[in-house]
Amino acid sequence: MKRRRSALDPDLILSELAKTSSKWLDIKVFAQVESTNDLAVKRLSETPDDEVFAITADEQIKGRGRLQREWHSPFGAGIALSVAVPTKLFSCEVSAIPLLVGIAANNCLKNLGANAKLKWPNDLMIETDSAELKKIGGILVQRQGDHVVIGIGLNTDLQVDELPTEIATSLSLINIETSRESLIADLLVQLEAVTKLDSNKWLPLYLAVSSTLNTQVSVTRQSESIVMGKAIGVLESGELLLDTETGRIEITSGDVLQVRPSQP
Ligand code: BTN
Repeated sequence: MKRRRSALDPDLILSELAKTSSKWLDIKVFAQVESTNDLAVKRLSETPDDEVFAITADEQIKGRGRLQREWHSPFGAGIALSVAVPTKLFSCEVSAIPLLVGIAANNCLKNLGANAKLKWPNDLMIETDSAELKKIGGILVQRQGDHVVIGIGLNTDLQVDELPTEIATSLSLINIETSRESLIADLLVQLEAVTKLDSNKWLPLYLAVSSTLNTQVSVTRQSESIVMGKAIGVLESGELLLDTETGRIEITSGDVLQVRPSQP
């Protein structure tokens, strides 16, 4: 059942953040943008300063996903959040930042009681009762000079007829109700927390929630070549380690078009 969807209340986000020790309080809320990531990149190119800032919107009309895909963000039905963070604030390797953002967003979903998992590198997945994985959100991290722009999209209220694919879902479809304001505040808190994690800390956290580890996968690379193998680990750089018939190989996320489960 579709409900009337309301606009984000910026004061509510700030009052949620005031209950925490978060120092990431510069957050601008828009009704409609093309893409929050594009807006953050633009602001950084105009005024590159060293502060963290966040941009969110009720609706994106040109939301962008990884690998040049579109990201569907109808008004009031999801979270579209971009956070610009100086890379020097992170304790991990820069190439691993997208995976740490996955840990942060996954923590938020778990805080809501969802059975949340991460499909390598950082697709936000929900494991259903029949062990099926559905995508509830995604992450697009872009480097811009000395910063990363961290884009997080999360489906909160999308209904079945609004979902972009059959394997997508939303919080309301798994019977989780939450305010978008408190979810945005929690995302900021969890993101700030993961900046402090080095590889000794983040790797075990990541592996514990990975839906890819120890499964047979088929990786379609940008070159269109397909590699099959068993995912046996993740490196400090964020690369996925695959055991293939011809030996062990490392896969970088930039090299990948698709990671799918395959038959053993
Ligand atoms: C993916 O799974 O392909 C990544 C999706 C990332 C979507 C978010 S929504 C906020 C930010 N702005 C964008 O245009 N994209 C990201």
